[in-house]
Amino acid sequence: MSFFLAFVFLFPLSLFIFKKLSPSKMNLPPGPTGLPIIGNFHQLENFLHKSFHNLSLEHGPVMLLHFGVVPVVVFSSREAAKEVLRTHDLETCGRPKLVTTKLFSYNFKDIVFAQHGEDWREMKKLVGLELFSPKKQKVFKCIREEESDLLFKKLTKSAQTETLVDLGKVLFSFTAGIIFRLAFGHNFHECNFIDMERVEEMVIESETNVGTLAITDFFPTCLGWLIDRISGQYSRMNKGFSKLNNLFQHVIDDHLKIAKPEDHSDLVSAMLIIINKPTKSGSFKITSDHLKGVMSDVFLAGVNAGVITMIWTMTELTRHPRVMKKLQEAIRETLGSNKERITEEDVEKVEYLKLVIKETFRLHPPAPLLLPRLTMADIKIQGYNIPKNTMIQVNTYSIGRDPKCWTSPDEFIPERFLNTSINYKGQHFELLPFGSGRRSCPGMALGTTIVELGLLNLLYYFNWSLPDGMAIADIDMDEIGALNIAKKVPLELVPTRHHL
Ligand code: HEM
Ligand SMILES: *[C@@H]1O[C@H](CO)[C@@H](O)[C@H](O)[C@H]1NC(C)=O
Ligand SMILES: *[C@@H]1O[C@H](CO)[C@@H](O)[C@H](O)[C@H]1NC(C)=O
Ligand SMILES: *[C@@H]1O[C@H](CO)[C@@H](O)[C@H](O)[C@H]1NC(C)=O
Repeated sequence: MSFFLAFVFLFPLSLFIFKKLSPSKMNLPPGPTGLPIIGNFHQLENFLHKSFHNLSLEHGPVMLLHFGVVPVVVFSSREAAKEVLRTHDLETCGRPKLVTTKLFSYNFKDIVFAQHGEDWREMKKLVGLELFSPKKQKVFKCIREEESDLLFKKLTKSAQTETLVDLGKVLFSFTAGIIFRLAFGHNFHECNFIDMERVEEMVIESETNVGTLAITDFFPTCLGWLIDRISGQYSRMNKGFSKLNNLFQHVIDDHLKIAKPEDHSDLVSAMLIIINKPTKSGSFKITSDHLKGVMSDVFLAGVNAGVITMIWTMTELTRHPRVMKKLQEAIRETLGSNKERITEEDVEKVEYLKLVIKETFRLHPPAPLLLPRLTMADIKIQGYNIPKNTMIQVNTYSIGRDPKCWTSPDEFIPERFLNTSINYKGQHFELLPFGSGRRSCPGMALGTTIVELGLLNLLYYFNWSLPDGMAIADIDMDEIGALNIAKKVPLELVPTRHHL
């Protein structure tokens, strides 16, 4: 809609002269010819990863586009991704400053959208210590096991009454239950100012707001500004943000009310202590904007990707009964019979589950374009010059389906990873669900533990079937989303308790 508005408003302007420097002269990457001012906006459909994929088939793995007047280079091959994220990691670890990311990151005081610099470094160090360190993992173990029990109880009830389960709902509740207790110290299952439904709505809404390109960012004049106001983008974004800010303030106020001075049990308490400590002048000062920026990161980056991964995994397993059967047998054989509870130790044991998750990441990377980066110097990739301040996107969706990297790329075959060393930790550039390099995801270990724990609970205790009258061919594979790409139609299955 905003693209269309942009087009209508800007078309008359396009009559003005708008000559780009000729790509061949500067050895810039090739790409589709755009319109003046609008650039290639009109050639992009709803899903950027798919539009980029189609365009790259024609224009190659290093492709230059223009969002309005802003140059964007899209990388769609393993080799190009490796050059960007490894060889030129340092020169490409900026993030573009966008209207939406500025707002939701409290003026870039967070990790995800912060510029490469002191704020980003200090915040990443602090959150690494308070949320991701191995020591914390042990402390957090009981939270995860409590949430597992809750999930198990819910599903057992549905199995007894043979009712359809919306897997998105229960898995969101499971994941958000864990992450928000770790980070915010709040149990949203029994919270008096917000419930899980509302939290889920807010996560999706905030992601959409951040992921929707504001026209302002891509046109130099006040025209873009005007279009965002007319199209409603501006007010949607501000309304969404103010809801989020209220929630964060609520959580902080609650902490202040019951503050125990040395309570380090969650990220918010830990940061509040640091904020209130006097610092030496000249040293880095953490403010309440940093705190809210990080809360915003956890909200936007911490929950949905894991939920999406579990849903795509269950979807592919349902579509491939052979894999489902093999996986359930592997899980039940490895873990033995009559387990009362899946523990964290179990997560490491089932090799086939890891292959299934890798295959899901290959076909359905939750964030197919990772997050946009910005070049901080002139660089050369695959022989092409890419100037400083170019926005860059790595299309892991294309790479995951590239026949040069994968045989039968469109088929779901977990065994393809059997005799390979390929993992998703950022050293193998054909599989990059968490990105790679300095800007890669710091929540990888936590995220995968939650995914594995959730799936083990689903698959050890229960068998899953489609509702009566529905066949495998009826499963809808459409996607939805902006930053994170999810399954559009909810996956609803009937659980049966499996007694071993
Ligand atoms: C399956 C789960 C997850 C997936 C697939 C995932 C994926 C990603 C991806 C693709 C990026 C962008 C990397 C890049 O730009 O190169 C990212 C960044 C990030 N993720 Fe995750 N993530 C997951 C879970 C988490 C969790 C649980 C947290 C924290 C609670 C988290 C926090 C972050 C942060 C803070 C960044 C920004 C890093 C930076 O810019 O320096 N993620 N994640
Ligand atoms: C990409 O190309 C395919 C096949 O030609 C087409 O069906 C699909 O609609 C295109 N998608 C986008 C987003 O352009
Ligand atoms: C569950 O599925 C497995 C095969 O995956 C099968 O052997 C078992 O009998 C099923 N259990 C129930 C209760 O249907
Ligand atoms: C992996 O290696 C084993 C033994 O080395 C072999 O039996 C098996 O067929 C191989 N599997 C694949 C998928 O290549």
